[in-house]
Amino acid sequence: MLAKAGVDLHLELHGTRLRAGLTGALREAVRSGRLAPGTRLPATRALAEDLGIARSTVTECYEELVAEGWLNARRGSGTRVADRVQPRRPKPADDPAPRPQHDLEPGAAGYADFPRAPWLASAKRAVGAAPHTAFGYGDPLGRIELRTALSEYLNRVRGVYADPAHLVITSGVHHGLGIAARALRTEGIDTIAVEAFGLDIYRAVLHDENVDIPPLMVDTRGARVSDLGDMVEAGAALLTPAHQFPTGYALAPERRAHVLEWARRTGGVVLEDDYDGEFRYDRRPIGALQGLDPDHVVYFGTASKSIAPALRLAWMVVPERLLPAVAHAKGRVDTVSILDQLTLSDFIRTGAFDRHVRARRLVYRRRRDELAAAVAGRTTGVRLVGMAAGLQAVVSLPAGTEARVLGAASRHGLAVAGLSEFLHPAADPEWPSHDAIVVNFASISDSAWPRAVAALRGILP
Ligand SMILES: Cc1ncc(COP(=O)(O)O)c(C=O)c1O
Repeated sequence: MLAKAGVDLHLELHGTRLRAGLTGALREAVRSGRLAPGTRLPATRALAEDLGIARSTVTECYEELVAEGWLNARRGSGTRVADRVQPRRPKPADDPAPRPQHDLEPGAAGYADFPRAPWLASAKRAVGAAPHTAFGYGDPLGRIELRTALSEYLNRVRGVYADPAHLVITSGVHHGLGIAARALRTEGIDTIAVEAFGLDIYRAVLHDENVDIPPLMVDTRGARVSDLGDMVEAGAALLTPAHQFPTGYALAPERRAHVLEWARRTGGVVLEDDYDGEFRYDRRPIGALQGLDPDHVVYFGTASKSIAPALRLAWMVVPERLLPAVAHAKGRVDTVSILDQLTLSDFIRTGAFDRHVRARRLVYRRRRDELAAAVAGRTTGVRLVGMAAGLQAVVSLPAGTEARVLGAASRHGLAVAGLSEFLHPAADPEWPSHDAIVVNFASISDSAWPRAVAALRGILP
């Protein structure tokens, strides 16, 4: 029984392999949800006494579970069940989660427009032409063919200054973010300010790396980076400058200048998440911040929006001074599929990537216009806000109606997200309310789109 920290949990320890038994029992308790995320475990001495075993056995067991990610250990606040662990609860037999008829949620399950034929053609060419050395474990920083192709592409399309030696291939922005956080910690930075609206999964990645993540307020000019000056402890800031996620605004020119000036003055680092920079519909996309100051910006890009999340291919461009720490944080075995890297490299080099993005841009622009038309002329306060960009749009709602609209959406088989789902838990409660829904207009097929828009029209006030 874990009783001393208020945790009441029965643990069965059998046989002589006490450490393996305790580790297995705790892992299962976390996995099954019997120990909820955030639960503080008893001190090692107390648990050892409770169970009548050596304290070193308990310490080793906690260390192993911390290393596996089931637990977090923080100086001063003990050992707790990690937040990202998703308890595996049995589903009630009579309540199969219904799949929405129209999935317009950011991060929707499907992705209808994967460029199957050109991707297969690139894969065929890439695998056919690969030297036999390409079939080994490879460089954890990434295959040079892809780093070279991306360096040219990012410079041309996003104004990023990216020498191939500074590019690191990852299996997603979230993967790169974890690596960056680990690297920054070794450089003495353990506080990263984040935008008050953002993905909770990213906050969890940083939190799991023992980084503090104070929120930066977001308004129609993007993140209020002038507040960084007051956060003396913040050594870095994670931003989505080209298209704030999910509110949809660009970081205003004076704020772009301000954040770079802050970084230069304090030795701070800007983590630039350029997740959908290729997609702007009303004018040419704003270039990346990184191009203005490659020494103070870590740039993150991904194939998740421009091609599909299933590829799990992304990249970061790292300033010279952080390269050794990033290489060390990535380690020697963390390599992304080399064959997929070679395929993407061919996809970029042969122009298939540009053609795909150009074609998708036309489709997404049309869909966003149709969304704007569906939203126009409703109750006061219902309108599309944010820039004409990206793969999702925000529909603002009259104050106090977000939950009601989400309820109606769910009853009509429509999956959208409420803007409040993206709010940082520590954000200032005094902020004006932001009732709105976030609508992903990119993932579903052309044939399903008109019905989804009609369903949306049906639930808006
Ligand atoms: C803000 C933001 N950044 C980055 C990504 C891409 O993440 P990943 O490359 O891990 O798929 C997404 C995808 O939803 C996103 O919304």
